[in-house]
Amino acid sequence: MNRKVTVVGGAGNVGATVARAIAEKGLADVVIIDIAEQKAAGVALDIYETCPIIGSDARVVGGTDWNAAAGSDIVVVTSGKPRKPGMSRDDLVRDNFEIMKSIAPNIVQHCPDSIVVPVANPLDAMSQALYRLTRFPRERIIGMAGVLDSARMSTFIAMELNVSVQNVHSFVLGGHGDTMVPLPRYSTVSGIPITELLPPDRVEAIVKRTASGGAEIVSLLKTGSAYYAPSSSTAEMVDAVLKDKHKILPCCCYLEGEFGIQGLYVGVPAQLGAKGIEKIWEIKLTDTERAALHKSADAVRELVTILKV
Ligand SMILES: NC(=O)c1ccc[n+]([C@@H]2O[C@H](COP(=O)([O-])OP(=O)(O)OC[C@H]3O[C@@H](n4cnc5c(N)ncnc54)[C@H](O)[C@@H]3O)[C@@H](O)[C@H]2O)c1
Repeated sequence: MNRKVTVVGGAGNVGATVARAIAEKGLADVVIIDIAEQKAAGVALDIYETCPIIGSDARVVGGTDWNAAAGSDIVVVTSGKPRKPGMSRDDLVRDNFEIMKSIAPNIVQHCPDSIVVPVANPLDAMSQALYRLTRFPRERIIGMAGVLDSARMSTFIAMELNVSVQNVHSFVLGGHGDTMVPLPRYSTVSGIPITELLPPDRVEAIVKRTASGGAEIVSLLKTGSAYYAPSSSTAEMVDAVLKDKHKILPCCCYLEGEFGIQGLYVGVPAQLGAKGIEKIWEIKLTDTERAALHKSADAVRELVTILKV
């Protein structure tokens, strides 16, 4: 029997691109659930029709009927409004919380054993909302943001040093917002920290550009927000879980004292495998890095306090 991944909000930009990535890699059958019923069916059929060309045996269906999602291994949640120019991710909190409230019971009913990958923004607060609403264990609710933020940082480092992106490994922790914490000390080119390769002002410029990486795309696109890199990032997490890779990726996880943070979803290095989060890697931080992580966590806590989740 094929594995199954459901993408809620899969008729939208991020969701459709995630669905396509999963189907084209042949990782699993894909079910697209979206309130835009016709569009969901159309997007699914269009993606299905790429499979003979790519040589993938994935089956792809779409609609509003959650029965199709039954028994999914993974549920990716991209249902949520994207921001417009001038908006912060936090401005979406109330509208997207309502969407989480409407889909959580369906996840619990139809996909009780699934691993959930929230993507909708504000990411940390929506992850916390789905954790509280589904009551799934923390190992099975893993937010996507850090993979994207790290990919953005890696791109900027590769551009700066004119090296292959494959030589670059970046580390970004914290909430998925302006307070995110890119860690230059742990960001390397062929194992060498960028702090040894670039002057402090260039490192600082990369850190700043990373933290506003989403807003940069929003201001260029004018309508909607980024979706190619976000969907590739989500597909990487799906791949790590379905293939039980034991892969360490920066993920938004519920912390129970790790890094001195209690009862909150924040981005940290996590090892992903078939059961979801296998381990949170509590790397050593300097006092300044730790303070930045706590400041970022405080910003997330403000939002979840508004939602009372
Ligand atoms: N975590 C990240 O790093 C990251 C990156 C990019 C985008 N995002 C977020 O992902 C979300 C989606 O972005 P997008 O560009 O795809 O937006 P979009 O508007 O293109 O797609 C959203 C989809 O969700 C659907 N939807 C709304 N309510 C629903 C419900 N109750 N059930 C099922 N489907 C529902 C809509 O019909 C639409 O098709 C946004 O919140 C955006 O901010 C997060």
